[in-house]
Amino acid sequence: MALNTAQSKEPGRVSLPINSRKDTWWIKPLLVFLGLSTFGIYATWRAFEDRYYWGPHTWGPYLSPFYSPLLPVFHIGHFAISPALLILPFPLIFRLTCYYYRGAYYRAFFWDPPACAVGEPSVRKRYTGESRFPFTIQNLHRFAFYIAAVFIAILAGDAIIAFDFNGHFGMGLGTLIMVVNVLLLSVYTFSCHSFRHLIGGALNCYSCGRSGKTRFRIWQRISYANERHMLFAWLSLFTVGFTDLYIRLVSAGIIHDVRFF
Ligand code: FES
Repeated sequence: MALNTAQSKEPGRVSLPINSRKDTWWIKPLLVFLGLSTFGIYATWRAFEDRYYWGPHTWGPYLSPFYSPLLPVFHIGHFAISPALLILPFPLIFRLTCYYYRGAYYRAFFWDPPACAVGEPSVRKRYTGESRFPFTIQNLHRFAFYIAAVFIAILAGDAIIAFDFNGHFGMGLGTLIMVVNVLLLSVYTFSCHSFRHLIGGALNCYSCGRSGKTRFRIWQRISYANERHMLFAWLSLFTVGFTDLYIRLVSAGIIHDVRFF
């Protein structure tokens, strides 16, 4: 990798031109930009599309994750407020403050910087990282984790209900999609850095406490998933959008659910 460097006016710092790297470093931020933009546009459209209850977000025992838990429609005057607008901000805050996503969207959207050893388009007077408002809000991530864990329990309940076809045990493609979705969301949520710290942090000796060994084993498993946190962040983002899309298409009669038994 060839680098063109230039000394910054700040002593000890080197400023790089935007074209300092000659490899294809831009592919990754471009994919992040496209992936997050596509999901953001789709989720916004779905949230505003379905302003009336029992619209295309439920079919048989299936319920879209965008509309879970089922909430009544609120009205402001004659204007109906989609329940999704009350639900989606919580998972959105969890993802926005996620350590992985922060790095990804700082690069893809803010070019701050766009990649390692690549210069920024504008010269910043002083680098303050996340120590200034509004970036200090990112510290809320550990609290967003607790709310996300509650949503996992709700979605797990939805996945169990998806086996109930008019009082008979059954399984359709939608059931399978909902189960896979909640599994991937669970791995993403519980591979969170905050949860890893909750389990294994602030501890000097695992073998000193009564439940130390159990805690250590849980921490090891979380660490294994945590190393793949980026993978599960994307897989779960895809499945949550796909689950909503599938239920919407089945509900609207555009496709038919495949019933296994
Ligand atoms: Fe990604 Fe917590 S660090 S969800």
